[in-house]
Amino acid sequence: MRPDTTARGGGLDLLRDERLRALLDRPAIFNLSQLAISGGQRATKRWAQAWLDARDGDHILDVCCGTGEFAALFPPRVTPYSEGVGGYLGVDLNERYIDYARERYGEVAGRAFAAVDATQLRLAPDSFDRALFINSMHHFPDELNRGILREVARVLRPGGRLIVIDMVGDDRRAAQRFFLDRDRGEQLRPLAAQLALLGESFAIERHDTFDSGFTPQTIVAARVVSRES
Ligand SMILES: C[S@@+](CC[C@H](N)C(=O)[O-])C[C@H]1O[C@@H](n2cnc3c(N)ncnc32)[C@H](O)[C@@H]1O
Repeated sequence: MRPDTTARGGGLDLLRDERLRALLDRPAIFNLSQLAISGGQRATKRWAQAWLDARDGDHILDVCCGTGEFAALFPPRVTPYSEGVGGYLGVDLNERYIDYARERYGEVAGRAFAAVDATQLRLAPDSFDRALFINSMHHFPDELNRGILREVARVLRPGGRLIVIDMVGDDRRAAQRFFLDRDRGEQLRPLAAQLALLGESFAIERHDTFDSGFTPQTIVAARVVSRES
């Protein structure tokens, strides 16, 4: 049964409507919603770029890259293709998002996108220096996050860095709460739970919080521990 979108909070409760949520699977509409809610993720992009701190020649994996909005942050002053891996590789399960990302950002040497399951990347171990996992954990149950994080830890080289940005589930400010309660993600977690999941596969380096429009975000830097340890 569809939720009654008119009874509780008037027009803004449309954000809970299943049909509207299904529309967000369309790349252009997803990006429009990001523009309205978070100013096109400007703050998230600034934080991601600063904390990832990619260097010339790095290979960067953007896991669950969606429509590829973070690809352009990393101009391919990076190494050219090797074993089919771009200097920047964005992967996502949604083929429509990947088609859109290729069309919009893919015409650049050293940048590639692939429609694959991030729990089974079929990429060589230790083949990336940096990884991004953005705006996704709160959509996934613990087991799916574990599967993705284990796979990212496998393909990142020891000492390689992962940056995770996700919504803070326990923010109590009224405006932020309003948007958190209406987000499509149904697995919002407090920071402690995010860190616990990440800590199963990575060593946490540091974390912080910031606002992206009305959405409160955590950012975590984590590194792959040596395989022997
Ligand atoms: C909210 S979007 C985040 C997109 C992007 N990181 C951003 O911030 O714009 C979450 C993405 O995870 C993708 N996804 C879900 N399960 C996946 C899986 N098993 N492997 C790869 N991508 C997956 C979805 O298709 C969706 O694009």
